[in-house]
Amino acid sequence: MSESVPDPLPFQRPVPPEEQAAPARTELDPATESLVEQFERARREEEAAAAAAVVLEEEPVEAAAPVEIGPTGRPMPVFPEPQPLTKHGPARVVSMTNQKGGVGKTTTTINLGAALAEYGRKVLLVDFDPQGSLSVGLGLNPHEMELTVYNLLMEKDVRLDEVVVPTNVAGMDLLPSNIDLSAAEVQLVHEVAREQTLQRVLAPALEKYDVILIDCQPSLGLLTVNALTASHGVIVPLECEYFALRGVALLKTTIDKVRERLNPRLEIDGVLGTMFDGRTLHSREVMDRLVQAWGERVFHTVIRRTVKFSDSTVAGEPITSYASASTGAEAYRQLAKEVLVRWPEPRHDA
Ligand SMILES: Nc1ncnc2c1ncn2[C@@H]1O[C@H](COP(=O)(O)OP(=O)(O)O)[C@@H](O)[C@H]1O
Ligand SMILES: [Mg+2]
Repeated sequence: MSESVPDPLPFQRPVPPEEQAAPARTELDPATESLVEQFERARREEEAAAAAAVVLEEEPVEAAAPVEIGPTGRPMPVFPEPQPLTKHGPARVVSMTNQKGGVGKTTTTINLGAALAEYGRKVLLVDFDPQGSLSVGLGLNPHEMELTVYNLLMEKDVRLDEVVVPTNVAGMDLLPSNIDLSAAEVQLVHEVAREQTLQRVLAPALEKYDVILIDCQPSLGLLTVNALTASHGVIVPLECEYFALRGVALLKTTIDKVRERLNPRLEIDGVLGTMFDGRTLHSREVMDRLVQAWGERVFHTVIRRTVKFSDSTVAGEPITSYASASTGAEAYRQLAKEVLVRWPEPRHDA
């Protein structure tokens, strides 16, 4: 019986071609097969991700722009590019004021000034702090100054243009200062119209410049009252820390008193959050509190914390030239655009 006889041949029956074809094409050992699958899946995922990335790149510009929330928790406006000026002056005089030290007054004076000068504004910076940080921050040596703001305030025959020095920033000049100014605070007490002294000596500069920024000392003494009396506006830099909020009420009272008694035109141009750290809840909470207290006076622009500012001070130049493409430089350019929107147009017929 043929069924019971074992196959005598020591090889397997050849597989007919039609049976052979299919398994031979697809039959991979399981390891290889899973590799191929993995490879295929990875390729599909990569393609999908690339497609999604294209969509992501385009989307925020079109869809998210109108509702972009800025660092102050409010919708972020788009500020127009400042138009070049054909005529200069009369200047808007603005004091950088906060009786606390280390909040960014001097840094804001230098860098807002430099950004405004980049936009073609003629800028005069006034160092009104006996520590002279503004002058040093612009590369001057405090011991080598012949004439300073002190001489301009106290000596009748010293003229403004004898004291003003150019800076390395085109279109930006400086009225320098050093420790001599601390004596003025004491001596001014005995002067007639002692609160109006700075206003009087700055008067000849108004026609030449578009913006005069006064860097105040960290106190609310007679020098700061002089600065506020000479000003159209105040910018209050505030570090984004809880303790920075203390003392703001006293500053507001001082500004109100100066407005009532000495300078009815004085306005608060804005409150500027400095040393902001968007990664911390703390910074954002301080920002919320500021907006609750000061409303629309709070600038949409905030200045983030970065070591580039101390580096540029050491280099004796503004961040706008020291690290022109840095976020710090960009922030001050944005602040320049924002203040130009807030400030009234200068009246050339006035
Ligand atoms: N946004 C910032 N991030 C980091 N450091 C800053 C910033 N702004 C200012 N600084 C640094 O903090 C210190 C105090 O700033 P400054 O402008 O001199 O304050 P103020 O004039 O109010 O005393 C300086 O060393 C300065 O370089
Ligand atoms: Mg300072």
